[in-house]
Amino acid sequence: MSVIGCGYLGASHAVGMAQLGHDVIALDIDKDKIAALSACELPFFEPGLGELLRKSVESGRLRFTTSYDEIAGSDVHFVCVGTPQLAGSFNADLRWVESAFVELAQRVTEPAIIVGRSTVPVGTARRMADVVRGHGSRAEVAWNPEFLREGRAVEDTLQPARLVFGVESPQAEQLLRAVYRPIIEDGSPVVVADYATAELVKVSANAFLATKISFINAIAQICEATGADVLRIAEALGYDNRIGRDFLGPGLGFGGGCLPKDIRALYACAADLRLADVATFIRQIDVINASRRDRALSLGRELLGGSYAEKRVCVLGAAFKPNTDDVRDSPALAVAVAAHQEGARVVVHDPVATESARGVHPEIEYADRIVMAARDADLIMLLTDWTDFADIDPVQLSGVVRCRNMLDGRNVLTPERWRSAGWTYRA
Ligand code: UDX
Repeated sequence: MSVIGCGYLGASHAVGMAQLGHDVIALDIDKDKIAALSACELPFFEPGLGELLRKSVESGRLRFTTSYDEIAGSDVHFVCVGTPQLAGSFNADLRWVESAFVELAQRVTEPAIIVGRSTVPVGTARRMADVVRGHGSRAEVAWNPEFLREGRAVEDTLQPARLVFGVESPQAEQLLRAVYRPIIEDGSPVVVADYATAELVKVSANAFLATKISFINAIAQICEATGADVLRIAEALGYDNRIGRDFLGPGLGFGGGCLPKDIRALYACAADLRLADVATFIRQIDVINASRRDRALSLGRELLGGSYAEKRVCVLGAAFKPNTDDVRDSPALAVAVAAHQEGARVVVHDPVATESARGVHPEIEYADRIVMAARDADLIMLLTDWTDFADIDPVQLSGVVRCRNMLDGRNVLTPERWRSAGWTYRA
């Protein structure tokens, strides 16, 4: 089989398929990425994946290429290219999906199946099937959305919570069942649907997760105004298994390469369909989320006595969430940059994302160690919930900073511990 696109999804999928015993050739148009992967180097941080990449390459079941001609003879092609937000619009940018399908359609002459895994607006699979047919190819199109979380890509690839097959024929379903046989035998349920349903499952899943986060953050605002404790509320809500505790973590809100763009693409879809109430509902999820970044910034300003100007601010966290070096739409980095723009001298520390953050925001400072970032700080802002940060000793840090001000943007610290060490703690 072939895997087209070796980003987060494609690299994880290619390695996962090789682990299942398939003969995999993975393609990317980025020569540097292919050179790194061929040398068993992951171009991003992902726990456990590097080891499996090495094993897969050494076993001979996984190799990499930049040439579509080399993959043309595969029986199954998985399209795993990116669909980022289109600049200046809420829609997804589909240029890479379209070009992958055209490149394949021009070359795949024997019966084969082209399986889209990228997250796309509803209607894309049908359009791609028309493109393939239009080129006279005998390949069939299926859509098999992915649900993998960064930081847990291996688990989500090899033990997914479910598999969704958007297919138009029993043959395509059978082929996908054969591809995933070990996973299905391990107990992952399969949902078989039409194209539009399969496409919408993915976007709905992410929109629902985003809704849970914005919901608890909306309740957090009511709590701030009334003195109630949102963490206790989340705990109590979580015991109701109709609700569940996951994704009820209040704080700085969601970021990353998926939730923000998917919620915006769904908004654009609802607006295109002239479903005004639905569009408004979905839009508010993003609006509440963005407001959390402003709130963190204003809490920080308050702790600094009214202004960031000339102040030294230590930011703990640059990644959009722990266990990744991904800084796409990172709430932590957005707040750090905003504090810098308001005149603070900002020093950021992140266990693994410092280099990726420096790549996009070279104007702020970075430090390899927490104490270096915190030296002479007037304020510490904890903005990504890395477990390392929960263990920071407030007494030890007291000797390093200039003012003991802690803004815990992710509710990971124990307030009493910090307050009893003389810190002004806000969350
Ligand atoms: C998400 C989906 O979880 C995954 O199924 C899909 O395939 C891709 O998008 P990911 O982007 O890796 O995965 O991030 P996720 O773990 O969902 O976290 C998203 C954001 O929500 C992070 O910024 C995280 O910090 C934030 N979050 C999460 C909260 O603010 N509160 C929570 O309770 C949980």
